[in-house]
Amino acid sequence: MNIDSKRVLITGGAGFIGSNFVLRTLERYPHAKLYNVDKLTYAANPRGMERAECSGRYQLIRADIAHGETMRTLFERIEPELIIHFAAESHVDRSILGPAEFIRTNIEGTFQLLEAARALHTASKPIHFHHISTDEVYGSLPLDEGAFTESTAYDPSSPYSASKAASDHLVRAYYRTYGLPITITNCTNNYGPRQFPEKLVPLMILSALEERSLPIYGEGKNVRDWLYVDDHIEAIWAAIERGRVGETYGIGGGEEKNNLEVVECIAQIVAAEADMDAEAILARRVFIRDRPGHDLRYAIDPQKARDELGWTPRESFESGMRKTVRYILENRALYDSIRSGEYRQWIAKNYTKRGGEAA
Ligand code: NAD
Ligand code: TYD
Repeated sequence: MNIDSKRVLITGGAGFIGSNFVLRTLERYPHAKLYNVDKLTYAANPRGMERAECSGRYQLIRADIAHGETMRTLFERIEPELIIHFAAESHVDRSILGPAEFIRTNIEGTFQLLEAARALHTASKPIHFHHISTDEVYGSLPLDEGAFTESTAYDPSSPYSASKAASDHLVRAYYRTYGLPITITNCTNNYGPRQFPEKLVPLMILSALEERSLPIYGEGKNVRDWLYVDDHIEAIWAAIERGRVGETYGIGGGEEKNNLEVVECIAQIVAAEADMDAEAILARRVFIRDRPGHDLRYAIDPQKARDELGWTPRESFESGMRKTVRYILENRALYDSIRSGEYRQWIAKNYTKRGGEAA
């Protein structure tokens, strides 16, 4: 499906990956119209989206995807041709502390979107549903052996990954049962500009810059396959444009690092970019109690995406991390306001909550 000139309904487009996606998609597709349905939770980041707002082709609609009536009304009004579903509760640690919101948004929310799409989809006015998911649905790999593929059995460990697994199953069921055209991408860990600073990478960069301690779970030996956010965005475009309907594509950066290596790399780059001492940063590492059910290793074999979509990542871990550190250095005020709570007040002032109707 060609994205340009389409009416595209994006969910979660004020979050980390979604907001980068919105900004880049408006540049890459000069005729696409984007409607961003986002509840603006603590993780949303609508600040810095002025470029999108000035484009005349972007609208932010504050709404909850789990509210079925609201979704139906919105879909009837917008008549989307393409849905790109990013919205989720996304932080594993929060899902351990309180899973309820994860079940509601990730499962119920996906269900309500699928229902709204199903009600409007016809052969003459088709709606394509692209679902953004994670490699965490496959569970954990042993160190130094194997990688997930699209046919790996689901085996999620956390309430977050279990809720994403359920959402994947629902999306595929709507294709098989109702013929709703869908594609799914299951991606590895992302990092880059605008990520909420509770996730490992921005947390460590900010802690290094502010001379605070760097909390590492367990022994820091857990491995993740890191992908720069812009490479994920390219993979999503490719899956929508060149992917086969009904198919799932695994997206991975091929940059496996354990958490000690991630922190080491961040310390080196922060030291170079901010004129600090890398050894002094690393001396502030603190090894803390491990996360319950902490998956040892994730890695995706991206061969299908390479062969069928022609997708390969452009950034190395080092080059992507340098861009991320530079972005944070240039946007310290944004991160300070997110953490001070001033940012929540700004959201409350600028974005009124919508009930059953679109903005
Ligand atoms: P994020 O937490 O930064 O952003 C999530 C966005 O969804 C926020 O803007 C939030 O306000 C919105 N949202 C939450 N609940 C909502 C609701 N009920 N209704 C409407 N909007 C709601 O997440 P992210 O890191 O940008 O992840 C986006 C998607 O990508 C998620 O589906 C996640 O599972 C998936 N994913 C993330 C990664 C990663 O490393 N970050 C990797 C693979 C897949
Ligand atoms: P995170 O960014 O939360 O992503 P995910 O759990 O979805 O992979 O964590 C990445 C890795 O970093 C994971 O192994 C947990 C670890 N971690 C820490 O060691 N310390 C921290 O403070 C955080 C947030 C994560």
